[in-house]
Amino acid sequence: EKEKTLAIIKPDGLYDNCTDKIKNAIFDSGFRIVKEMLIQLDEEAAVSFYAEHSSRSFFSSLVKYMTSGPVLIMVLEKENAVADWRALIGPTDASKAKITHPNSIRAICGLDLQKNCVHGSDSPQSAQREISFFFKEKSSGSAVTEH
Ligand code: CMP
Repeated sequence: EKEKTLAIIKPDGLYDNCTDKIKNAIFDSGFRIVKEMLIQLDEEAAVSFYAEHSSRSFFSSLVKYMTSGPVLIMVLEKENAVADWRALIGPTDASKAKITHPNSIRAICGLDLQKNCVHGSDSPQSAQREISFFFKEKSSGSAVTEH
């Protein structure tokens, strides 16, 4: 049965043709892009999206990074999409991924622990919550500004 996950190409992933590399990896791995939206997150949306990290030391830096430029939000679909997308992107720390998971998206397009070029939902529950965070009915008010 098909499953959906939320993927984000972060601001650093939208430079240097990385978007094409990431999209090719998505298609080569059998995902379908169901929805796609290029947006600029404002501070409120970034704070809200990453609320679970709000007590972490890196939180303000994370919010600054995620609002530093546009991001590409995508809903990906395939069997086992959540786990398979996490496997394809590799470990959080892109600098370590270059050594341990050299074929992963973060190894190829990411830089370090923060600038890791992509996001992936960590569970089916998170995926549902994150997909509805970005793709909710207009009438209920959007958390993000679309351009
Ligand atoms: P991700 O795991 O997708 O979601 C949380 C993000 O916070 C993570 O990617 C990184 O971009 C960032 N992050 C996680 N840990 C750190 C850290 N120790 N220092 C800076 N940024 C971090």
